[in-house]
Amino acid sequence: MCGIIGIVGVGPVAPRVVESLRRLEYRGYDSAGIAAHVGGRLDRRRAKGKIRDLEAVLAEEPLHATTGLGHTRWATHGAPSVRNAHPQKSGRVMLVHNGIIENFAALKAELKAMGREFESETDTEVVAQLIDVGLEAGKAPIDAFKAALGRISGAYALGALIEGHENLILGARRGSPLVVGYGEGEMFLGSDALAVGPFTHRISYLDEGDFVAIDHHGARIFDASGQPVERAIRAVSASAALVEKGNYRHFMEKEIHDQPDACQHTLSAYLDPIAGVAAAPEGFDFTTIDRLQILACGTAYYAGLVARYLIEDLAGLPTDVEVASEFRYRNPAVAPSTLALAVSQSGETADTLAALRWCKAKGLRTAAIVNAPESTMSREVDLLWPTHAGPEVCVLSTKAFTAQVTALTALGIAAARARARIDAEEEKRLVEVLLEAPRLLSEALEAVEDQVRPIALDVSRARDVLYLGRGPMFGLALEGALKLKEGSYIHAEGYAAGEMKHGPIALIDEDTPVIVVAPSDHFFEKTMSNISEVIARNGSVILVTDERGAAHAPANAKVVTVPECDPLIAPLIFATPLQLLAYQVGVSKGADVDQPRNLAKSVTVE
Ligand code: AGP
Repeated sequence: MCGIIGIVGVGPVAPRVVESLRRLEYRGYDSAGIAAHVGGRLDRRRAKGKIRDLEAVLAEEPLHATTGLGHTRWATHGAPSVRNAHPQKSGRVMLVHNGIIENFAALKAELKAMGREFESETDTEVVAQLIDVGLEAGKAPIDAFKAALGRISGAYALGALIEGHENLILGARRGSPLVVGYGEGEMFLGSDALAVGPFTHRISYLDEGDFVAIDHHGARIFDASGQPVERAIRAVSASAALVEKGNYRHFMEKEIHDQPDACQHTLSAYLDPIAGVAAAPEGFDFTTIDRLQILACGTAYYAGLVARYLIEDLAGLPTDVEVASEFRYRNPAVAPSTLALAVSQSGETADTLAALRWCKAKGLRTAAIVNAPESTMSREVDLLWPTHAGPEVCVLSTKAFTAQVTALTALGIAAARARARIDAEEEKRLVEVLLEAPRLLSEALEAVEDQVRPIALDVSRARDVLYLGRGPMFGLALEGALKLKEGSYIHAEGYAAGEMKHGPIALIDEDTPVIVVAPSDHFFEKTMSNISEVIARNGSVILVTDERGAAHAPANAKVVTVPECDPLIAPLIFATPLQLLAYQVGVSKGADVDQPRNLAKSVTVE
């Protein structure tokens, strides 16, 4: 994960930037840099590696300044190198960036055709170039910045310095958090409260689409439409900063909205957007196994169920998914050519650990998709495949779930390529589709939040709720039901849509909401038949679908519409309405959604 710190300050800025970047080291990075106004010009120092490497460069060539911008980079577009480290420079612009600019290639071609020259492989440089083009056209800095924002697509947080404007830092957020810090006669911009924590505890969290201009006297914040807005200034203690709720009422709400960022940072560990390839971190040859045995519990188990469809369909790799607490008790027939893959947010779940150890004792190689890199599971497996969702505080797993599905999807593409089921061109296409997920998650969250609200009121009155889905959406139906159970204490069951007529249909009446998760994919027609079976029995249907599916929705079904997306990333996008529904129902019933009764965040007993 990348880190951003900007300071329009009154003291030496370089040591302050370094201090802040050190606090962001937990986010993981592979290069670092700082830019500052020195004698009326913009200058910068960058280093591949760690903060100490940047400090060594600064010791050799100090930057004497009071306004500057710092960054730690986790490489997405372009290998870790000084040339690709941020800040990226173009003309009078120095820019730092966290996220992915999806349409950078087309913009880069357009800018090159204008005669602009590039020095890096990064997507970030394209944004710096766009801002400089605006400045050259005579635009004021904020207008050049805003014009550039209007050209880019993706999930990002940005910070920019403009030569000749020493008392100014520009920032923008879409899909990746950014905060404004208020000091005494100085101002700050940071990736999170922790970044600005050494300098101030008075913080505003920018909202999706906001952009901001800060100077010594304060901040001018604008919303996505360009209208000036106020964002509340909150007191945030530095210690709480790492697990701060931001503008949200609960960690669950914050972590649901963290998902574009969590997805993007997880993708950084599996995809090379320039080469258009997917790979397991540190590499893994999927031709050395002939079966994948996924072991997990709860939400992580449902992530495995969702991914099984993709991995078998794409890679032709036989994939079993099993509840860890059941697996070893049936004395399964496994072979050394099976890879045991644990999926776990905490990396401490006793059932999953026990199943992993059983596999290890049988001579299987073991891997784990884990969100906690220092966990027991991380230390015990042969292969650590991380998710980078950041700390998940809410007991209900949301961003970890989509991060797990993200990692499993990337691994499915890598396995398909390794097993020659797809060619390099198809791999590149699938990688590009997956890179759209952070933006589409952001758009889905914006699109469904208000749609779900009236439905949440209906569901909150129910005693029982059914969730139905086919294919990967069956796993999502199970996850949606679990979220509702955990978040609101309402009984809910997830079922394969085709199974409903084999029994659960007996439950259907006007008081039992049936939530059907159905993209307009090749399962859609059959799922519509299942919906008709429910409606014929006075059942109340809530159809979660996309625009094309909504056009075919039965008249008396309530519909929640998510953005159109490729089937590859539908499980990610379609998770958001189910999560938001569980959250809104739980809150409406006064449940403690962050720490529901009887639940623990990590179940370390079998
Ligand atoms: C998720 O909402 C639940 N709290 C629970 O099912 C959880 O997913 C399960 O306990 C597994 O935890 P892990 O991912 O840390 O292994």
